[in-house]
Amino acid sequence: MNTNQQDTAIAIPTKEFFVSMLTRDISLVDAILDLVDNCLDGALRAAGNNQVDYSRHSVIIEMNADRFFIKDDCGGIPRDIAINYAFKMGREPDDIRDSESETIGMYGVGMKRAIFKMGRDAIVLSYHNGDKFHVPISPEWLDNKEWERLPIINSESDESLDSPGTIIEVKSLYPSVSRHFESDSFINDVKIAIGEHFTMFLQRGLNIEVNQAQVSPVRVEVLVSEAKDGPAPFIYQKVIDGVTVSITVGLNTGKSLDDDDDDILEFERNRSASTAGWTVFCNDRAVIVGDKSRLTGWGDGIPMYHGQYSVITGIVEFRSVSADKLPITTTKRALDTSSEVWSEAKIKMREGLRVWIDHTNTWKNYPRSDQTKYWESSKPLSLSKAIEAVAKRDVTNKHDGAIEYNPTKKKVLPVPDTKKPSSRKIVFSRPIEEIRVVSGILFDREDEAPSAVGEKCFQIVLERSQKNDKER
Ligand SMILES: Nc1ncnc2c1ncn2[C@@H]1O[C@H](COP(=O)(O)OP(=O)(O)OP(=O)(O)O)[C@@H](O)[C@H]1O
Ligand SMILES: [Mg+2]
Repeated sequence: MNTNQQDTAIAIPTKEFFVSMLTRDISLVDAILDLVDNCLDGALRAAGNNQVDYSRHSVIIEMNADRFFIKDDCGGIPRDIAINYAFKMGREPDDIRDSESETIGMYGVGMKRAIFKMGRDAIVLSYHNGDKFHVPISPEWLDNKEWERLPIINSESDESLDSPGTIIEVKSLYPSVSRHFESDSFINDVKIAIGEHFTMFLQRGLNIEVNQAQVSPVRVEVLVSEAKDGPAPFIYQKVIDGVTVSITVGLNTGKSLDDDDDDILEFERNRSASTAGWTVFCNDRAVIVGDKSRLTGWGDGIPMYHGQYSVITGIVEFRSVSADKLPITTTKRALDTSSEVWSEAKIKMREGLRVWIDHTNTWKNYPRSDQTKYWESSKPLSLSKAIEAVAKRDVTNKHDGAIEYNPTKKKVLPVPDTKKPSSRKIVFSRPIEEIRVVSGILFDREDEAPSAVGEKCFQIVLERSQKNDKER
């Protein structure tokens, strides 16, 4: 035996590890979102330093028991990137491609993980700068213990991509994946997740189709009055360690400050309640939508969320060209609450929320209608539009470079007229049939809102009593 010979130990990851471990911690829906993330990163890179016109881009997703298919027109994968980076499991430190753009890709696993999660036979087709090629990830490659290089095969004549973009197709789906892809409720979950997570891109005109149905964005907005001294949301913006943090908290379109339970209100409340609470964006992706838990500070120095606050919507956005500085976990669908930038933002989020908690308390015993006039000239706006609108007002510039607008301090929030005797709520229920009958008598139609029917009854009796008083 040669004692000078140093033995060496094998220290490379096994494929088995990658395929089974890496895919375990991500849900199927999140794996699909990862593929859409790649399309959007592609669109950003293709635009260079220019603004992306998302209305010119489409992402088409099709899923059924036999295959998964995603196609985009976002520029494709350049050949040298395919050779050196795209199919590597994990990013190399020398891969500094995105240091100038607000892309979200950072680990170099998303695409591979999504493919391995779904099935055993995949093909990635790219069309970039007139160069068309495909890369098969075959069952044979997966079964082979060696990390062999993947073939890059020219495919000029392939007509499935007619403009620069990427197609990923996965076949030989795992049985559980196949079952999900043929389930309507799973398809619906995918649509909801896309409508929430990519709402900003969809609102800017991006077309995403899932099994031939276009996905619509979830709108998360706060009311801003057009009048400069009219009510406006709380606004805060500051750059913290290379991350631009923007916060707004205000009223949502539910408008109501009432807490009673008639049908119309219930409908309004449900509509606004899903986006009430906190929504957090990181580089334009909504990481959480309408959170009403301790995660975003409810019940932590401020009251727990309940019905009275269903009119309050808060939006926080983190933007950075260094995606690793964003307060998100490795799956990119959850907050990294241990991050410094999140802790700092939370302090301001609480401050903004306090404004509206106090406001809803102030108005609790006054009818909704008393406040409506103050909000008449207001419009629901997204975070960036709200900041743009409020920035035209007299915002406070802080010494640390932050800007802030606190509607309480600026005295722009309506206060109830305390000279008027305060009101009390009247709440009662009656069978729908009876409400219809009374509605028919009072309004010549049977479908007037129950609250309006009740209010009218009250008004008639009150007017009668006032008339009697005068005649006496
Ligand atoms: N649809 C696409 N359009 C353009 N390029 C793509 C597309 N999909 C993948 N790529 C290329 O493949 C690379 C690898 O994608 P992958 O999702 O595995 O990692 P990543 O996006 O770099 O990082 P992360 O793991 O954080 O998502 C991307 O960096 C990109 O260059
Ligand atoms: Mg990615």
